[in-house]
Order: sequence, then C-alpha cells, then structure tokens
Amino acid sequence: MNFEYIIVTPQYDEKIALIKLNRPKELNALNLQLMLEIKQALIDLDNDENVAVIIITGNDRAFAAGADIKQMSGKNAVDMLKIDQFSTWDQIRKTKKPIIAAVSGFALGGGCELCMICDMIVASETAQFGQPEINIGVMPGAGGTQRLTRAVGKARAMEMVLTGTFISANEALQYGLINKVVPIELYLSETVKLAKNIAEKSPIAVQLAKESVLKAFETPLQEGLYFERKNFYMLFATEDQKEGMSAFVEKRKPNFKGQ
Ligand code: CAA
Repeated sequence: MNFEYIIVTPQYDEKIALIKLNRPKELNALNLQLMLEIKQALIDLDNDENVAVIIITGNDRAFAAGADIKQMSGKNAVDMLKIDQFSTWDQIRKTKKPIIAAVSGFALGGGCELCMICDMIVASETAQFGQPEINIGVMPGAGGTQRLTRAVGKARAMEMVLTGTFISANEALQYGLINKVVPIELYLSETVKLAKNIAEKSPIAVQLAKESVLKAFETPLQEGLYFERKNFYMLFATEDQKEGMSAFVEKRKPNFKGQ
C-alpha cells in the first residue's frame, strides 16, 4: 500500500520498524486517512516476521497536534457517528507486537491519545503533552479520559482535561505517563535502543507478556491473575522457553527462534 501521510520503514534497524507521521505543515494533525494508514501499516508490520518492535514518531516540532480540527469542524453528531473514526483506534489497540512512541514537540489531543495507545513512550525534553479539546468546545474522544486517568491518576487527568493545560516531558515522566526523557537529538536513537532490547527476547513471550499487561486495564485482579497464569503456562509449550532456560543453565546467550 502506498501511503500519503506516513512513511513506513519496515527495517529501520534490525527487526525494528518505523512509522513516521508526515504532515509537517499541519503539525501531523491526524486526519481520517492518516489514521487509516497507521492502522494498515500496523496490520502489515504485525504480520511481518522480520519485525519485532514498531516505533511511531513525528518530527522534532510535533509528534501530532491532535485530530484534524479543520476536517471535523463542519460535522454534526450523525456525521461523526457514521464516520465512526475511533473504530480505527480499536484496531490499532489490537496490534500484537510492542509499539513505542518516540515523541518530540506537541503531543496534543489525539496526538497524546496516540502516544497512550502505544505501549511505551520515549520523549525529548521539548515534548509537551496535553488534552486541549476543552478549548474548542469538545472533550477527548480517543481514550484521553480513560488512558490518561489510568496513567496519571484522577487529579492530574481532571486538571489536564478540564483546563487543557499542557505538561512538559519532565512532568509527564514524574507522573508516570512516559518512560524516559532525553535530549532532543537522542529521542529516536534512545527509542531504537529500547526497541532493540525487546527485539532480542522471544517474540512469543513478548507478545503474551504485552497481552497480559494490557489485560490489567480491563479486568478485576483475580481474572487478570488467571489470564496471566494461562499465558505463563502456555509459554512452556514453546522451544524458546526450553532455549531460554537451557541457555541460563549453560551460562550462554539464548538464541530465540520465535517457535
Ligand atoms: N488540526 C488541524 N490543523 C492543525 C491542528 C489540528 N489539530 N493543529 C495545528 N494545525 C495547523 C494549524 O491550523 C496551522 O495551519 P495553517 O498554517 O494552515 O494555519 C499549522 O498546523 C501550524 O499550527 P499553528 O500556526 O497553530 O502553530 P503554533 O506553533 O502557533 O501552535 C499549537 C501550535 C499550540 C499546537 C496549535 O496549533 C494548536 O493549538 N493546535 C490544536 C491543538 C488541539 O486542540 N488539539 C486537539 C484536537 S481535537 C482532538 O484531538 C479530538 C480527539 O480526542 C481525537
């Protein structure tokens, strides 16, 4: 598939794919097509055996400044219901491989929500996170009230969502929204470093571990514990489990094959 608003590099580094949002003049505002392109790219990369981890990034000035306000401004509620733009996001959420957001500059509204649907976030010192929808007479619609609240707690989420105030990368780190803050020239290379660390593990273990962590957001504790346990036992059906444990005993590096 040819993409208009994103650039996809399936082998940006060994086993690491990169999706770069590419609407720089509009600060990577997320129009409907761009979101469909991200969805399609993620489906393709999830099915690509040579890819272990996917990175989503923007440019130094903006990760993404939100959903495309110009595209939405003339719509009524029935239009929005019919377009059902957020069903695209449900598919993104189903990606099995880990996704890391490499963020610099604005990550606002849908841009902040796109980071939060990723599994981890590495940010440059210049990154700003916010849910400013309240300033244009609406509210977050792609998970902002839910994922942000789970990440930073009620008081901080309420303040961000009700006032539209942005937070800095260091505040986001302190609040537990993101994983790491680095100088601007390093945000992509540090993300690749993190991705490489994960790419060395057994891909089946990574997939089931990701699935289990995400389950924690959706289930009561006991149900989540049973889910985790079943995934843990299931890994004993893999060659990678035998290889990983033998390598530990033999004091050598494991050679995982994804079997
Ligand atoms: N949608 C459409 N266009 C956008 C945009 C957006 N979300 N954000 C920026 N742009 C466009 C601007 O209109 C401008 O285009 P023109 O040159 O054609 O006028 C261009 O990008 C550059 O933006 P600015 O001139 O405004 O740049 P700035 O540095 O002065 O300000 C900013 C940067 C503070 C991010 C400002 O652009 C801004 O406030 N953007 C909107 C942020 C926002 O409200 N996001 C939430 C959107 S709603 C949403 O996301 C709903 C949801 O939950 C999914």
